[in-house]
Amino acid sequence: MSNTIDFDERTAKAVEAMYLTPDVVAQRAEVIKALAPKPGEHLLDIGAGPGLLAYDLARLAGENGRVLGIDTSEPMVKMARTRCAALPQAEFEVGDAVKLAGVEGAFDAAVSTQVYEYVADMDGALKALHRVLRPGGRALILDTDWDSIVWHASDRRLMQRVLHCWDDHLADPHLPATLAVKLRRAGFTLMRMDVVPMTSLGYQPHSYAAGMMHGILGFVRANGERHGLSADEIQTWYDDQLHLAERGEFFFSLNRYMFLAVKPV
Ligand SMILES: C[S@@+](CC[C@H](N)C(=O)[O-])C[C@H]1O[C@@H](n2cnc3c(N)ncnc32)[C@H](O)[C@@H]1O
Repeated sequence: MSNTIDFDERTAKAVEAMYLTPDVVAQRAEVIKALAPKPGEHLLDIGAGPGLLAYDLARLAGENGRVLGIDTSEPMVKMARTRCAALPQAEFEVGDAVKLAGVEGAFDAAVSTQVYEYVADMDGALKALHRVLRPGGRALILDTDWDSIVWHASDRRLMQRVLHCWDDHLADPHLPATLAVKLRRAGFTLMRMDVVPMTSLGYQPHSYAAGMMHGILGFVRANGERHGLSADEIQTWYDDQLHLAERGEFFFSLNRYMFLAVKPV
């Protein structure tokens, strides 16, 4: 059962901090390289979150281009507007990936990173994406598959139970495995798929892995009971990670999958 996260003000700040780590900065560079935005293009960022990617896209699209970021979370939209205040070509609106108000064929390209895994109606979301792109328009989608996690723990069974509970924060924790099929069904041509790994060999406080550790702790504390996880077990899981970190034995590796597709002409 999915019990997706409420992207309120506190969570928005936590996401912003995690997405400013070098791991996610490097991920954004990969996304921009694959999307290759050009000056003057009209770009859509679906689930723009704190606006970090939209900021980079707006600078690349330039004053004659346009970037529209939409997000269901008002605190995220507010944060993105503040971040991009000096870039008049960037605008942000509250909106839903499944509804995507807007003119048919209005965008040269669209991105959606770490968003569709939260969306229950993926066929509806891809239909909306297809509609707002012009023929020949590019769609870049990046999501995590939680089957790809390799995370060292002294008690592997406890780690599995914690991660099983964490799966509840998404509508589909394994979206990448079926995304190519869904894209084709929605009328897209798949151009390429790349793996973007997030790895930590050793613990760094300012890292994606550290952010995940704290995010998972908060979520599992609030939702662990449904999975039979006691407060003591959750604390044991967390303390183990701290001990492994102290001993230089921390290891975290998780894959994100980046799909570039085109709406045929
Ligand atoms: C993990 S954040 C990713 C933010 C941003 N795409 C990035 O990579 O920096 C997920 C974002 O998706 C948004 N979101 C979730 N479901 C959505 C939906 N149905 N439509 C639009 N945005 C959605 C959330 O509000 C949140 O800002």
